[in-house]
Amino acid sequence: MQFSDAFKDRERQIADLVTASFTASEGAGEGALVGGLVRSQMASTPPQDLHIFLAEEDGALLGVAVFTRLRYAADPRRVFLLSPLAVATDRQGEGIGQALLQHALGVLHKNGVHVAMTYGNPAFYGKVGFVPLSESTAAAPLPLSHPEGWIGQSLTGAALTPLRGPCTCVPALNDPRFW
Ligand SMILES: CC(C)(COP(=O)(O)OP(=O)(O)OC[C@H]1O[C@@H](n2cnc3c(N)ncnc32)[C@H](O)[C@@H]1OP(=O)(O)O)[C@@H](O)C(=O)NCCC(=O)NCCS
Repeated sequence: MQFSDAFKDRERQIADLVTASFTASEGAGEGALVGGLVRSQMASTPPQDLHIFLAEEDGALLGVAVFTRLRYAADPRRVFLLSPLAVATDRQGEGIGQALLQHALGVLHKNGVHVAMTYGNPAFYGKVGFVPLSESTAAAPLPLSHPEGWIGQSLTGAALTPLRGPCTCVPALNDPRFW
């Protein structure tokens, strides 16, 4: 398995993998919604606010992890949000998701990112260091329908002290359907 961040000209393939993976796990409506999110993230996010990590094998796409910037108005730390993460339906349960995330978090740390956040199942993301956070430690950009899924981690080794100021996300995620 190899890792890459070269997503240009592969947008269709990436969106198709995400759509198929979420359709299989959560139904066609969610598949279309999250596939559309990824298309919109790739099309509308300024490059400095977007990191996409791909897992591949012999040219075949196995997994996709999309990180976009979260801004805390009064805090200098660089924070990125993972959403979504998807592994090809016929390759789940082989460790690809965890390996892709470990790679991604290492690259983000080397690129000066201080904090990674995500919004998902703590049982899975806890395997790669994410822990539940209160909104007094890290405000969410929109109201959360599942606050127990708001999780994050410091990438620097320093304890995660409260992030200061209101939080904003990139335009593609600024939609209550994702929160
Ligand atoms: C969730 C997903 C990314 C995990 O990737 P993966 O490559 O299958 O996972 P890995 O093989 O690295 O890890 C498997 C472990 O995670 C656990 N796991 C996988 N999916 C899980 C889930 N949805 N909830 C809780 N635990 C999960 C497995 O039980 C397994 O645990 P074990 O190692 O103790 O046996 C993948 O299953 C997927 O694409 N699912 C559909 C889309 C999705 O739900 N994305 C995440 C949204 S929050």
